[in-house]
Amino acid sequence: MAGITGAEAEVFSRYTAQARALGSVNLAQGIPEGRLDDSLGQALLDSLGLGWQYVDPRGLERLRIAIASRVYAGAFRTEEVLITSGCTESVTIALQSLAGRWSEDRWGAKVAFLEPFYPYYPGFAELAGFEPVPIPMHDGPPALDLDAIERVFSNGVRILLLNTPHNPSGWVITSDEAHALRGLLERYGVFLILDDAYHGFVYSGADSAGAARLVESNERLLVAGSCSKLLSATGLRLGWLLGTASALKRAHALHMYLTYCQPGPLQGSAATLIEQRRPADETMLAAHYERKRDSLVAALRAAGMSCSSPRGSHFVVADYSRLAPRVAPEDFALEFARTVGVMSLPLTPFCAPGSAHRRLRFSFSVDQGTLDSAVDRMTEGAGRGL
Ligand SMILES: Cc1ncc(COP(=O)(O)O)c(C=O)c1O
Repeated sequence: MAGITGAEAEVFSRYTAQARALGSVNLAQGIPEGRLDDSLGQALLDSLGLGWQYVDPRGLERLRIAIASRVYAGAFRTEEVLITSGCTESVTIALQSLAGRWSEDRWGAKVAFLEPFYPYYPGFAELAGFEPVPIPMHDGPPALDLDAIERVFSNGVRILLLNTPHNPSGWVITSDEAHALRGLLERYGVFLILDDAYHGFVYSGADSAGAARLVESNERLLVAGSCSKLLSATGLRLGWLLGTASALKRAHALHMYLTYCQPGPLQGSAATLIEQRRPADETMLAAHYERKRDSLVAALRAAGMSCSSPRGSHFVVADYSRLAPRVAPEDFALEFARTVGVMSLPLTPFCAPGSAHRRLRFSFSVDQGTLDSAVDRMTEGAGRGL
């Protein structure tokens, strides 16, 4: 795969700028809907007393307790939580903490992840000195291809970086898939890094117990997650890495070299918000996103694209091949933004180089008004025959 150029990391801001230039509704970037109240601002004011000096590099104890007990329902202990500056840092240090572990291995160092993949994954792998190995998912309704996973494990992959709920496909691991995957991880001694950035964004009908079956504290597991989507606050830059003391040890050391600690008042306010979360709030938020998902899926289908309804995360992947079979995704995304007024993201940066596809990613995490206007534009466009 191509090395790190920065272009893959810029893709979100590039399409956002193009959406602005064309006056189209921006469904390209997956920024969550703004917070629905000012509870974060209030919690920050209440936390200012924590001051602006260094705090414990493991993170504020209150926040670590809140994450272990509330977000992961006691599956991890407070000592097994490291606070980071977001899932980006968590995945970076998780991978870097494993660098060198298999240097004597005849296979070389490889990290596998599902394709389509979050565009930063190949770069995360390469920064840590690993060869990235994408494993295509089954299409249609997306699903794990367990045979393909076993093939890469038996070819020397020692780390699986797994994202569920999945960006971009919306796949959510089922209990059966989790059970089978655990068997493979154990059989081949593969280390699992679970990217849980979309924790809780699981919609009705999906199996919400699958990820929990993977999140049992063991020596070959690190769980990366973040307040970005959980608290609808991507700018808070707070995340976590969870694992046993031995699994976390090197990541903790790297964290002290990289960012050392996150601001105390921000951690205090995140702790307050997580402590205040009630199961009913989580259900309400998921139901709110689910309604937005349904209206986006209906509008995309009315516009002539085909898509399955995602079971989790913030995105719909739509295939436009019936509309323009010969047009490249980059051209179609821009043309769709010009003529219909809705900007999406071509799926290309989520795929291995050279993959031939006719797919776009649309985000439904935008606020209701923005989504309604995208849906109206697509419905009107469909009426005009696009
Ligand atoms: C799958 C995935 N992992 C990690 C991240 C990074 O999250 P953070 O904002 O916590 O750094 C994102 C952000 O969109 C994501 O989609």
